[in-house]
Amino acid sequence: MSDQNTAPYSSRRLGRVRIPHLHEMKARGEKWAMLTAYDMYTASVFESAGIPVLLVGDSAANNVFGHDSTLAVTVDEMLPLVRAVSRATERALVIADLPFGSYQGSPEQCFETAVRFMKEGGAHAVKIEGGIEMVPQVEKLVAAGIPVMAHIGFTPQAEHQLGGYRIQGKGADAQRLLDLSVAFERAGAFGLLIEMVPGDVASRITKAVSIPTVGIGAGCGCDAQVLVWQDMMGLRAGQLPRFVKQYADMRSVMTDAARAFVDDVVSGSFPGPEHTFQDTERQ
Ligand code: KIV
Repeated sequence: MSDQNTAPYSSRRLGRVRIPHLHEMKARGEKWAMLTAYDMYTASVFESAGIPVLLVGDSAANNVFGHDSTLAVTVDEMLPLVRAVSRATERALVIADLPFGSYQGSPEQCFETAVRFMKEGGAHAVKIEGGIEMVPQVEKLVAAGIPVMAHIGFTPQAEHQLGGYRIQGKGADAQRLLDLSVAFERAGAFGLLIEMVPGDVASRITKAVSIPTVGIGAGCGCDAQVLVWQDMMGLRAGQLPRFVKQYADMRSVMTDAARAFVDDVVSGSFPGPEHTFQDTERQ
């Protein structure tokens, strides 16, 4: 196979990745990777690296705003992040996460929030969390032409109801998740995000639906995988969830650079002559 064929999908594309391309990849059995992004630099770096889909996750609550759960982040806080990611990308499909409380109330509330993310944020799709009660929300968005991804399994916005970060879909609960997946597909969802579900259950769901499944803590049987970038790049301090693979140690890289800067400033070796303007210089 040529380099062109083995390169990640979005590196091969000139135009924007669109929903039908994700469906075609599923049909071809071609796996893809998704990352979160919350600002322009990470968005453009990840796009250049061949990530076809970026999620502006409500995990911004933890990873941007310093909360200890996703519940706190608001629509007004998320919108500028979505706008930055959409503006910084040319090829990646940008999905905006609808924050807690901005869509559960009714399909109409969901529609109004999603419209803000599409119009003001420049998102290409939205994601909502939940169970069978969210089917009317999905139908409402799809009828309005808004692509929607349904997030099932462990849904962090319901962490208090679920009793914390717990694996979902174990034992008899697997059938509930299978039925839910089929219900979301019938309602028109373009994809499913499956979080913290046993690998064999996620594989069964992936085979049961024709829309792409994106796993996080759901084994290798999904069509795609997503990770939170600060987790996989090693920027976050402390213990990582078991399902995260760390690909870099950004915390050390940044700490070393900041320390070297401190040392240079304290010792007087920065700024040097090459960083300093002279009044004889031409404009
Ligand atoms: O908000 C988020 O980061 C998510 C993860 C599950 C990827 O939804």
